[in-house]
Amino acid sequence: MRKMNVAIVGATGAVGTQMIKLLENSSLPLGTVKFLASKRSAGKQLSFKGETKTIEELVPDSFDGINLALFSAGGGISAKFAPEAVKRGAVVVDNTSHFRMDPDVPLVVPEVNAAALRNHQGIIANPNCSTIQMMVALEPIRKAYGLTRVIVSTYQAVSGAGNQAMEELKQQTRDFLAEKPVNEWKADILPCGGDEKHYPLAFNALPQIDVFSDEGYTNEEWKMINETKKIMEDDTIKVSATCVRIPVMSGHSESVYIETEKAVTVAEIQALIADAPGAVLEDDPSQQIYPQALNSVGKKGTFVGRIRKDPDEEKGIHLWVVSDNLLKGAAWNSLQIAETMYEMNLFE
Ligand SMILES: NC(=O)c1ccc[n+]([C@@H]2O[C@H](COP(=O)([O-])OP(=O)(O)OC[C@H]3O[C@@H](n4cnc5c(N)ncnc54)[C@H](OP(=O)(O)O)[C@@H]3O)[C@@H](O)[C@H]2O)c1
Repeated sequence: MRKMNVAIVGATGAVGTQMIKLLENSSLPLGTVKFLASKRSAGKQLSFKGETKTIEELVPDSFDGINLALFSAGGGISAKFAPEAVKRGAVVVDNTSHFRMDPDVPLVVPEVNAAALRNHQGIIANPNCSTIQMMVALEPIRKAYGLTRVIVSTYQAVSGAGNQAMEELKQQTRDFLAEKPVNEWKADILPCGGDEKHYPLAFNALPQIDVFSDEGYTNEEWKMINETKKIMEDDTIKVSATCVRIPVMSGHSESVYIETEKAVTVAEIQALIADAPGAVLEDDPSQQIYPQALNSVGKKGTFVGRIRKDPDEEKGIHLWVVSDNLLKGAAWNSLQIAETMYEMNLFE
């Protein structure tokens, strides 16, 4: 069995840290493993499979001899270094949004469109965290009953904004408990690091994830809209999104409204979800069973519940979809892409 030499770019980040944990138990036959980050972290040590490893500074030569590079260090870093990695013979799985809508780059959720991996030209994009979990829940329904419309509202965890955002929320929470006035809380990152104004997230809900873009939508909302159509290979599906950050550490929740082409019952959808790869049905209102962000943390699945018919729309269905954004939304989906490619013999 051929050994895989793997590099993780952004190894110290919220996603990178999870990638390291998952790689420890991966089915990939590992050769050399490298952990890369910025100059700030170079020299720091961490443990991997019982061995001490040193974080290295990311430079183009980092990819010499690497077969697989998992990127999670921001779009600018991917733009600059992913082509370098490919030039040196690596396959890149990129977690950032930089290459997602590039027509030459497959955008993959393995349960949904693994076949797209065959067309890769060196780079594979990992979709947005909120899109991934929605795809796992909706693809089985689309395949069986057709999908004409999706309206989603998200309730996204702070870990989706990285380590510093999590620290900011923790400090604001401490300030709240210390009865410090709200105007003295420090807010330098959220809702979006690159934007002009910042607001506290603790005990709040912020209807802005990423910067605002065309027609009053944020980039995060456009990602959900455009990526859904690309992954499902159907531009005719009507998609709209409202993305909201809430003070939850990990686990994105989504209220998803769909309209199907053919009429479908709740029981039929429950049966589909119960059988769908990657999805877990948690839907029993009589027992108060439904997916919760807290319960999703540390799990690879996408949890689906609260499945019910729209009272006025014959083909309208509501669902509640929850998953760990750092795992299925990021680190696990990336590694799953790599493992799937290995099984499909797609590494040269
Ligand atoms: N969090 C999520 O749920 C999620 C989901 C999907 C996609 N993503 C995407 O994944 C990327 C990382 O997200 P994150 O949440 O893990 O962020 P994070 O916690 O802020 O971590 C950022 C990582 O990037 C590294 N980095 C920053 N500048 C660098 C440079 N100049 N050279 C090399 N490494 C550098 C950091 O290393 P240092 O420690 O040395 O600074 C750190 O390892 C982002 O593009 C994000 O949009 C995140």
